[in-house]
Amino acid sequence: MNSESASSKALVIGAGSAIAQALIAAMTHNHTVSEIVAVSRTMPGQDTCTQTNDMPVSYLSCDYSSAAINQLVAQLSVPQHNNPFSHVFICTGVLHNEHIKPEKRLEDLDAAQMAELMHINTIVPALWIQALLPVLKQSPRCVFSVFSARVGSISDNHKGGWYSYRASKAALNMVIKTAAIEYARRAPGVKLFAFHPGTVDTALSRPFQKNVPADKLFTPAFVAAQLLSICSHVPFDGEASYLDWAGAPITW
Ligand SMILES: NC(=O)c1ccc[n+]([C@@H]2O[C@H](COP(=O)([O-])OP(=O)(O)OC[C@H]3O[C@@H](n4cnc5c(N)ncnc54)[C@H](OP(=O)(O)O)[C@@H]3O)[C@@H](O)[C@H]2O)c1
Repeated sequence: MNSESASSKALVIGAGSAIAQALIAAMTHNHTVSEIVAVSRTMPGQDTCTQTNDMPVSYLSCDYSSAAINQLVAQLSVPQHNNPFSHVFICTGVLHNEHIKPEKRLEDLDAAQMAELMHINTIVPALWIQALLPVLKQSPRCVFSVFSARVGSISDNHKGGWYSYRASKAALNMVIKTAAIEYARRAPGVKLFAFHPGTVDTALSRPFQKNVPADKLFTPAFVAAQLLSICSHVPFDGEASYLDWAGAPITW
């Protein structure tokens, strides 16, 4: 067990994400924390507790509706979950699905698809950030990482395209930046940051990997290790940060 792990726990939201799975594996292997709570809509073995490498990992199911998020967070507040959270990761996010493709030009914009991505990529993380505030007030020190993307940077947009995904991540960044101001007052032990994992070999990036050089296509395990290293160094400065996989700041 390393020094960070004494009576601390991690909350991994969107545990079905390939990067989330790698994070859980890395934290159990390194004993970054003493307990993990993993939340997902879809993962098999829901509402179970497994023991990996001597570490309890509880899987809880949630459909990410406002009511379900609040109910789950109420569950986390009961005494059996009384270790403070030292790490929170919101790993959810969608770029494409069976009926959504990233737009190449304005003619591709579709109101319903855009609303769906805004809901998944902006509103769902915002609901988690809202619901977790009372729980995280009790954490003396908690690193709260929300998966964004570099394409959510307004100042770094040189190529265009991907309207809905870009807009939903830019809006997410604004939620993070704004919430960090309020958290600094109401839950000052929390450091919030938007995280860009780079291009990672997962279902999300698979259709878009053709032109990515091999050394720029990361494994989930590599990115998980990078993120845990960033979490152990990130300054608790009362502000949101926007960081890439190397820990380098991205302009908002
Ligand atoms: N892979 C990349 O190259 C890349 C690059 C930049 C940013 N990112 C960001 O990194 C994060 C993780 O991506 P990944 O590559 O690990 O993707 P992934 O393996 O495809 O995982 C998808 C994630 O999105 C959630 N999700 C899927 N459909 C959803 C829906 N309808 N409503 C709410 N949540 C839904 C899943 O949650 P459940 O566990 O509940 O299924 C899961 O956490 C995302 O925020 C993504 O935007 C990835």
